Amino acid sequence: MSAADVTSVAYLVAAVLFILGLKGLARPRTAPRGNQLGASGMLIAILATLLDRSIVDFRVLLAGLVVGSAIGVVLAVRVQMTGMPQLVALFNGFGGGASVLVAGASFLQVVDEGMVDNQLAIAAALTALIGIVTLTGSLVAFAKLQEVLSLSGFRGQRVLRALLAVVALAAAVMVVVSPADTGWFWLLVGAGALLGILGTVAIGGADMPVVIALLNAFSGLAASTAGFVLDNPLLIIAGSLVGASGVILTQIMCTSMNRSLFDVIFGSISADGVVADADDVYGDRVTSTSAEEVAMILEVAERVVIVPGYGLAVAQAQHAVRDLMRTLNDAGTEVVFGIHPVAGRMPGHMNVLLAEAEIDYECLLDMDQVNPTFAQTDVTIVIGANDVVNPLARTDPDSPIAGMPVLNVDDSRTVVVIKRSLGPGFAGIPNPLFAADGTLMLFGDGKKAVLDVVAALLNA
Ligand code: TAP
Repeated sequence: MSAADVTSVAYLVAAVLFILGLKGLARPRTAPRGNQLGASGMLIAILATLLDRSIVDFRVLLAGLVVGSAIGVVLAVRVQMTGMPQLVALFNGFGGGASVLVAGASFLQVVDEGMVDNQLAIAAALTALIGIVTLTGSLVAFAKLQEVLSLSGFRGQRVLRALLAVVALAAAVMVVVSPADTGWFWLLVGAGALLGILGTVAIGGADMPVVIALLNAFSGLAASTAGFVLDNPLLIIAGSLVGASGVILTQIMCTSMNRSLFDVIFGSISADGVVADADDVYGDRVTSTSAEEVAMILEVAERVVIVPGYGLAVAQAQHAVRDLMRTLNDAGTEVVFGIHPVAGRMPGHMNVLLAEAEIDYECLLDMDQVNPTFAQTDVTIVIGANDVVNPLARTDPDSPIAGMPVLNVDDSRTVVVIKRSLGPGFAGIPNPLFAADGTLMLFGDGKKAVLDVVAALLNA
């Protein structure tokens, strides 16, 4: 068997492992195994590429493997669960950036050798455009998730975006028509970089989760087109898998958010939304409560729904919530969880947290399942959730979250909201639920408040 045959077989094995890994990731129980399969596939792919020295000097790859693994291990060990969405945004961005660098370097080298054909030029132009938009867009998404950037739209930004898109597309065409003139390639990268920034900076409210899924899809597409530039089949396969799963996730997010992809990209609702004044919304109508009072209400409840949100991740309250569920179950109370598709800061955020606390997957109801049941629910406990339970999404067409489907917790007999203050959530808007008649506010850190309720229930 020749060295080229060994590389091909290794690539095939890696591709199969990627597919099996993705299949495993579809279910919480098989996800850890799926993750291991995917990682083994990547190791085989890197080793095979190391051996196939014609791609790049193997010492460079070896150095990359060592440095990359070290950074990956440190990040995986040190990152907090609340920092995970930002890390995922960075990974998307780095994927796009790496594709631009690798495909760009390869393209410019082939241009120097005077060997460019149309297929290579098209693939290089697509990689440069998609990759750089992914890089700068993801960096802005990172800054927004980290809450160091809250800028939304500005006047004329749609026109500017359209102009940049035209410049980028024209430059892409010129890269294909006149590849030897490398100035077009750099113009494409520059316009794409600005497009990524402007396309993401105006996004917020209900659109952010869709954009994050879209950037994920872009990072895969960029890797896939880079595979055409490098003539590397495994990169094409791996990139297509990431791209396709990202597109499916984007589609799911669009459906869950009741938004069309066109609206998300071209219509940024957050830039146009009107934010109500918090004093007008709350006035003196907010009723606060104590752990003991909540315990008394729970003692007579037959059905309880727990709605977790981003604050559950901040407070690391998942184990406390499990204790609350078990205490209530022991007293004969039915307890289920209502999970909104964009609760938290990344797809599946709540599911991951609750799985960590070994809460049975059967107890988690998604939005469509749980919404019709709130009317038969005695108590709904909202822990660290805000935007996903905000009735303004249903009632105020000018709100930045207008049209976003929410959990209709206000249909239940009593709502207990656990959070530290009347502060807003990610969308930055007040929530009339907190001042509604059937709502009691239990102010405090999510974990401590839940543990106080459990203690009060046990002492009763
Ligand atoms: P948010 O609306 O962001 O509200 C979280 C609430 O948690 C805050 O109001 C905060 O209030 C409370 N909180 C923070 N720390 C807490 C603690 N230690 N203990 C108790 N409460 C705490 O969360 P959500 O309802 O889950 O909605 C998610 C939002 O993020 C949506 O707007 C969504 O569009 C956006 N988003 C989602 C994703 C994905 S894919 N899931 C990605 C990007 C953006 P206090 O400060 O008063 O405690």
